[in-house]
Amino acid sequence: MMNEEKRFSFYELGELAEKAPKLFGIPTGTKLDEMFYKLEEEDGKLVKKPLGGLPYLSIFNISGIPDTGKSLFAEQFAAYQAAKGYKVLFVTVESPANFLYSAIREKCKALGLDFDEAEKNIVVIDASEEEELRENPKALMETMAYAIKEKKITNVIIDSITGLYEHKEMMARQIVRQFFNFLKKWRQTGLFISQKRSAQASESVEAAGGLAVAHIVDGTIVVDKKLIMSQREANLYKKDIGDVIRFIRIDGCRLSGHDTRTWVFEITDAGTVEIIAPLSEYIRR
Ligand SMILES: Nc1ncnc2c1ncn2[C@@H]1O[C@H](COP(=O)(O)OP(=O)(O)OP(=O)(O)O)[C@@H](O)[C@H]1O
Ligand SMILES: [Mg+2]
Repeated sequence: MMNEEKRFSFYELGELAEKAPKLFGIPTGTKLDEMFYKLEEEDGKLVKKPLGGLPYLSIFNISGIPDTGKSLFAEQFAAYQAAKGYKVLFVTVESPANFLYSAIREKCKALGLDFDEAEKNIVVIDASEEEELRENPKALMETMAYAIKEKKITNVIIDSITGLYEHKEMMARQIVRQFFNFLKKWRQTGLFISQKRSAQASESVEAAGGLAVAHIVDGTIVVDKKLIMSQREANLYKKDIGDVIRFIRIDGCRLSGHDTRTWVFEITDAGTVEIIAPLSEYIRR
């Protein structure tokens, strides 16, 4: 082995055919599922076919300022997947894990999902109560790897990834990259919740730690809200002054085609995400 140089391998594109993941959707239980698509040939023409979910094996950033529905969206995805029998690993970094139990139960009730099934299929790692897990990515990844292997996990949620680099935002890229590579290695479909300071332009993809984070993941979903404060806005958005209007948008996706419009959504009384219509249509109504 002495004096032997380390060599990296290369591939002919054709050799990668077997390794290429199939393109299909992992449903989130929201209308977002019809907003990703692939092109298929039909009678000699290319037509858009909805994927029916997030692209399989994709890792998405869900980015937004406080109280925009990021956690609700992540919980809905978890509940939906788990109720259908798929194993979900939920890493809570912000709020203690016991809150998740009632959140998932309420969502199942509202969406008509089987909670008994969901309960069995969601595995939780509570990093909110364990400083070691928040401060030491290696420790967290070891715990996650163990859970993924033992419980045959296929979907992973980290709420939030920004909570893993609090007070060290210059590390943001490195930490996001580590978790991204980790989930790729374990062949997971994943959501990273990215908390944004209100001071940053709220509709942008820029998260705490800088724009750079968005380049690492496969795509970003931006959620936003706006407080209606003038009669002009009230007329435009068909709301009352003092109401809140919520927006969701797929900002980018490397793995498939997607709808690029801004959509209006609501948070229902049961805490579920209900995407209503593209903003342009909503305003025209
Ligand atoms: N069960 C519920 N019923 C009705 N509304 C709810 C429910 N749960 C949450 N909400 C509303 O949805 C809002 C968004 O909640 P969510 O926890 O998803 O925000 P977030 O984007 O994760 O915020 P943060 O960045 O602070 O974690 C809450 O502030 C609340 O107004
Ligand atoms: Mg949250």
